[in-house]
Amino acid sequence: MKVANVHAFRTGSRKFKLGAVMEGTQVITREMQQIDTIVAKNKGRHGELLTILEEAQLVSEHNYLSEEALNHIALRTGVPLSRIYNVVTFFSFFNLKPQGQHTLTVCRGTACHTKGSKTLLDDIGLMLGCSKALEEGDSFVTTPDNKFTITTVACFGQCALAPVVAIDGVIHSNVTTAKLQKLLGKVVKEKKKS
Ligand code: FES
Repeated sequence: MKVANVHAFRTGSRKFKLGAVMEGTQVITREMQQIDTIVAKNKGRHGELLTILEEAQLVSEHNYLSEEALNHIALRTGVPLSRIYNVVTFFSFFNLKPQGQHTLTVCRGTACHTKGSKTLLDDIGLMLGCSKALEEGDSFVTTPDNKFTITTVACFGQCALAPVVAIDGVIHSNVTTAKLQKLLGKVVKEKKKS
């Protein structure tokens, strides 16, 4: 039995958002409904799986493919989940964790380390309130407000400009704590204006 237009409800310990519906015993969220549309639109097309995964990531709230989304895609396309995982782990543009609105990537290669990139990472933790996760060595941390995702790389290939930090894909060289503060302030301000 399908119950449509349920505003928000709980099954067990899980609360589902506005727009979720029940299909039999399965909870169909708004994201899953969007995936159904994407699957229907791309069925039988060349390279359908890649397109479905790409579009499903785009419609997700935090630009990533959740376990539920991947299971749902497997169910609707008939493609084994193991094959879907092979695809999403092979291509770097697929995200398996929620992404912040902005991405900060700190280089942790030797040249950048020597020029203080660990201190920059600590500064970022303090500025964005995620020191604990960074201290625990997580190489992928999203702030609780989903504004920033912090990642590290082994080398940007810009060692002469060390230490290097990329903000939303833009490389910044010779970064100091003061420069970092300024750059982050600018990003936050720009976001407020838009
Ligand atoms: S070590 Fe950082 S850019 Fe190469």
